[in-house]
Amino acid sequence: MTVSTDDVASFYDGTDKFSLEGKLDELWGANLHYGYWDNDSDEDSPIEVATDRLTDLMIAGLNAQPGQRVLDIGCGNGNPTLRLANARDVSVVGITISRVQAEQGQARVAELGLADRAEFRLADAMDMPFPDGSFDAAWALESMLHMPDRGRVLAEAARVLRPGARLAIADVVERGPVSPEGKVVLDHIRTTYKIHSLGTAEEYREQLAANGFIDVEITDITDKVNRTGIVLADAVEKKRAEFLVHATEQELDEFTGFMRRAAATPENGYLFITATRG
Ligand SMILES: C[S@@+](CC[C@H](N)C(=O)[O-])C[C@H]1O[C@@H](n2cnc3c(N)ncnc32)[C@H](O)[C@@H]1O
Repeated sequence: MTVSTDDVASFYDGTDKFSLEGKLDELWGANLHYGYWDNDSDEDSPIEVATDRLTDLMIAGLNAQPGQRVLDIGCGNGNPTLRLANARDVSVVGITISRVQAEQGQARVAELGLADRAEFRLADAMDMPFPDGSFDAAWALESMLHMPDRGRVLAEAARVLRPGARLAIADVVERGPVSPEGKVVLDHIRTTYKIHSLGTAEEYREQLAANGFIDVEITDITDKVNRTGIVLADAVEKKRAEFLVHATEQELDEFTGFMRRAAATPENGYLFITATRG
């Protein structure tokens, strides 16, 4: 099954979510991405703290300077975008393929009185509505996996960034060689979460170079983030009675079993990437 940008848009608009996932949004909190656990001392961090920690890794990697203009490619509900704006005193533009997310982001900006610092727009990352060289930095925090053509997104990023600008990416990827068992897990992730395809470290290295990015650093942080599936399964099990309103016993068992299995599957990888627009 091929996933289109329309499928991704309806997934994030909330129009095609089956009830268990709708409920998971509430459980997960504001950041629509994996958590990051640096070492055993932070193993008890709640998911909101662990997901903020991944955002903070991106903020550090991007190293934006006060007053700069930063693009968030695939901004979700804008939580990481606003965390970045506050942490680095920058102005941010977040784009998303979901109309609902863009509208909610704009409503939040108005409510917080941040209209001069933050803007959320409905736009496709493969065809960005911005002039050449109009941003000082950009990031894509767990959004590239949805994009049908990652090379085109990187070409667009290179176009809208000024020379010397930083780019940071966090993404779920495939780590080969993929065993038959690993393929089952990756296929399930792809279809459930409307993922067009999973990239690889090699693909990123090639495509970043092909689009003129230099100083490329690719770090495999799978071991730091794969606790996410276990934490999610634990959380659902803890609130099992509540979730039974939204799903059957069997669906819950399948969900939590799959989360634990995915967390233990080595082919299910995660990369943190930084680069500079040459
Ligand atoms: C997993 S969410 C991550 C959201 C956010 N970065 C975060 O970490 O909370 C993926 C986001 O990518 C966006 N996205 C997917 N495909 C896109 C595209 N072609 N153009 C722009 N945004 C896209 C989705 O709308 C969604 O907001």
